[in-house]
Amino acid sequence: SGLTVGVDVGGTKIAAGVVDDDGKLIASTRRETPATDTHLVLEGIADAVRELGSHHQIEAVGIGAAGFVDAGRATVLFAPNLAWRDEDLKAELSSRLDLPVVVENDANAVAWAESRFGAGRDHDDLVAITIGTGIGGGIISSGRLLRGGYGVAAEIGHITMVPYGRRCGCGLQGCWEQYGSGRALVTEAREIARHSPAFAAGLLAMAGGDPEAITGEMVTACAQQGDVGGLHCFDEIGRWIGLGLAQLAAVLDPTLFVLGGGVSAAGDLLRERVEAMFRGNLTGRGHRPVAEVRLAELGWESGMVGAADLARTNDDTSVPGS
Ligand code: BGC
Ligand code: NA
Ligand code: ZN
Repeated sequence: SGLTVGVDVGGTKIAAGVVDDDGKLIASTRRETPATDTHLVLEGIADAVRELGSHHQIEAVGIGAAGFVDAGRATVLFAPNLAWRDEDLKAELSSRLDLPVVVENDANAVAWAESRFGAGRDHDDLVAITIGTGIGGGIISSGRLLRGGYGVAAEIGHITMVPYGRRCGCGLQGCWEQYGSGRALVTEAREIARHSPAFAAGLLAMAGGDPEAITGEMVTACAQQGDVGGLHCFDEIGRWIGLGLAQLAAVLDPTLFVLGGGVSAAGDLLRERVEAMFRGNLTGRGHRPVAEVRLAELGWESGMVGAADLARTNDDTSVPGS
């Protein structure tokens, strides 16, 4: 059949791509996410889709949104790191674009793409964790995307990891994403730069001496060069992520965890730390099979590919790979 567009809408960027029914990305375009103005975000999405539509025959649009999406796959109920509150993206966008629109959670889209076309092709029970501005989750159980009763299953970034801990955009304290996300990576780097400038010398050098100018990409670049400050930041988030995976394994028993999102571009630097902590904290360890921890294979494309594929059909219950 024909082509669909998938749009990945995160805290910092809008990425839209034309995808065929084998999950292959044919063309793509990007925009910055206007931080607080939901109207501008809508216009940005519509503009990106129109651009792609002027060169390709598009049948439907799937939006992967960084928030709580209702069971009708239409409305973003709430987005901890974006300004959306009860935003009917489906209605707003289908009227602007005159195309069928389906709204999905961004991390669910990643889980779907990886299970069908990526790192999870050979698995029926997997959990995808996206590590970016926040932490997102998508659960494939017996080959099906787990949606829960209200559509908002797998909001794993808001599991309480530290009682009364750091404040979260969701209104709670101590959520997992305050400790294991890309934002947490940067927070840690800036903190050591302020308090232990010698230890953070590599990071500071890259940021022109200004702790507040340190970015996630800089932390990754430092760590990849073997810099102690950069590696320390990955030790930190790796520990928190691995600890969280052990909790998820106790509930869901997946055979595979897939690490996606912007921070997963750090590759084995991240994966190895996460896996070590996961294994060390897995209940029953030594007496049970242990889930694999892999990096997302489709990289930054997976959110778009998954949203596009989920827009193709209402049948999101088919077994991956079949
Ligand atoms: C949101 C999720 C989203 C994740 C990754 C979290 O803060 O609650 O809905 O999937 O960030 O973007
Ligand atoms: Na999700
Ligand atoms: Zn939270």
